Amino acid sequence: MEQKISFEDFVFIRDFIHKISGIYLDYEKEYLIRQRIEPILKDIKVDNFTEFSKIIKDGRSIRFKESIISAITTNETSFFRDDHPFKTFYKFIMPKLISKLRLIKDSKQKISPKIRIWSAACSTGQEPYSIAMLINEYLFKNAIFNITKNDFYILATDIDAPVLKSAVNGVYDQMAISRGLSEERLKKYFTPIGNKWELKNELREMVDFQKCSLHEGISTARFGGVFDVILARNVLIYFDVKTKDDILAKINQLMMDDCFLILGATENLYGMSDKFESYNVDNTLLFKKKGLTIKPKGLN
Ligand SMILES: C[S@@+](CC[C@H](N)C(=O)[O-])C[C@H]1O[C@@H](n2cnc3c(N)ncnc32)[C@H](O)[C@@H]1O
Repeated sequence: MEQKISFEDFVFIRDFIHKISGIYLDYEKEYLIRQRIEPILKDIKVDNFTEFSKIIKDGRSIRFKESIISAITTNETSFFRDDHPFKTFYKFIMPKLISKLRLIKDSKQKISPKIRIWSAACSTGQEPYSIAMLINEYLFKNAIFNITKNDFYILATDIDAPVLKSAVNGVYDQMAISRGLSEERLKKYFTPIGNKWELKNELREMVDFQKCSLHEGISTARFGGVFDVILARNVLIYFDVKTKDDILAKINQLMMDDCFLILGATENLYGMSDKFESYNVDNTLLFKKKGLTIKPKGLN
């Protein structure tokens, strides 16, 4: 039978979820807490939400904290989701990254830094793997041989451990494959295993998956430096304004001066105009740090 939840318990659990994930659910989403948390109550053999709240108040939530995060996150994603940001990455951003790498290589530094790309809420991996495919294809189609995929570092992070595990595995069912992947890319990058498809090692190796909560631990120290491209797509919508602004301020610090930030199609940076400027490139909004004296070519 479906459990009822009192307003008091709702507020308490809502605030707990906010604390551990940054995700904020207003009262309209009460049903979401009921539907998604109820299976956890069954698992841990707790009769109702009041008892559940008490366990949390007593500091005994550690054993199901990860299950709550996993239950409450929405992991919807697909290969080349929304298409146009990936076209813009290929046509507009890749040439700039290649020029940058050439400059670095020509400068004959002993250790050449890599181009650093961060997929900040990667879910089951389709987003960073789509970027990896585009890097491969760009290098091949433009016959670029002195720069290789090893010149790129792709970091992909998420708060949700089970989705990260499946991202690392790189095995996708027919449904996931049918969303956004062309027949040509399927043949090129995947091997069939049973009724699923496994991503080839050459692509899997390009992405470093790490568990990380955007509302807690993001800093240059945590990630070993700043980034040339950041994708923070379809995740900010789940946060309240303060959490979102705090995360964006930290993301701003993680951007190199010429870094491109890409958000989801429905996401914006209202209230952050002192930190970012936006540019529309072929219907994709690209965000740059505010106040750059030299604007990247092609942006106006
Ligand atoms: C809707 S998916 C978006 C996936 C991908 N970026 C895309 O656009 O297709 C949102 C992801 O954000 C993750 N997420 C939610 N809150 C997070 C947080 N505080 N820190 C890191 N990741 C979070 C979820 O686990 C989920 O996988």
